[in-house]
Amino acid sequence: MWTERLPPTREQLLARVTDVEGLLCMLTDGIDAALLDHAPLLRVISNYAVGYDNVDVAAATARGIPVGNTPDVLTDATADLTLALLLAIARKLPQEFAAVREGRWLPWEPGHNLGADVHGQTLGLIGFGRIGKAVAKRAAGFDMRVLHSDSRSGQTAINELLATSDFVSLHTPLTPQTHHLIDGAALARMKPSAFLINTARGGIVDQVALAEALHERTIAGAALDVTDPEPLAAADPLLKAPNVIVVPHIGSATTRTRERMADIAVDNLMAGLDGKPLPHQVCIPGSSSPTR
Ligand code: DGY
Repeated sequence: MWTERLPPTREQLLARVTDVEGLLCMLTDGIDAALLDHAPLLRVISNYAVGYDNVDVAAATARGIPVGNTPDVLTDATADLTLALLLAIARKLPQEFAAVREGRWLPWEPGHNLGADVHGQTLGLIGFGRIGKAVAKRAAGFDMRVLHSDSRSGQTAINELLATSDFVSLHTPLTPQTHHLIDGAALARMKPSAFLINTARGGIVDQVALAEALHERTIAGAALDVTDPEPLAAADPLLKAPNVIVVPHIGSATTRTRERMADIAVDNLMAGLDGKPLPHQVCIPGSSSPTR
């Protein structure tokens, strides 16, 4: 058991895996081929997350090691947070609360503190798996028009979604294909009045390009639950950009959700140690159904 406050360093992890048969790891642990070579006895990897971009699944599979993840149980919590971020950035909640707390609350005026409408606006979802669909369901309650596409829809469909959406929300896994999917060119296609929401993985967005787009106001704002790297340094230029909200990867952070993730992670681990199929086993990309 790793009981320290901070995750193990690469060296500490390498030293600890040499004699383990089962590994229950966090999304902060990079499990790659070199690490697997240090773990000759390893028979199962159970990732405490639905996303598994921190695990080289192909390398594990090549060594006959199944990889488990924790789908379904965090779908609703993550979709809830997506809507919370969308509403907060549109209606400027952090800035408005800061103004009240800092004694800058001016009397009500017609032209003060104006945000953007959410109801009736167009929401573009990039990624339409479990979480994307759960966000669409919530958006319907706000009378939003929902568009969706994913990395397989082709660039034309994504470009169309970027150009027409008032809010673009990311729900695709991080893969080599989706790394920096939202780059400078993609941001340039968005409307100047549009907002970007990311509750998926930080690496999907080119953050340098995003900071530039926010500074130059070529988009209206961004609300991020995930960044690259995590944690983001307090001095990161993104945090100096206008109209940005960053929260520290809390999409699944409700007590009940994290307990249910733990239950699944342990079930996966124990099944693997017993030589049984994992209740939630990840497949090599392209070999079977997606698991996110
Ligand atoms: C996951 O499970 O992939 C989430 O990002 C954790 O919050």
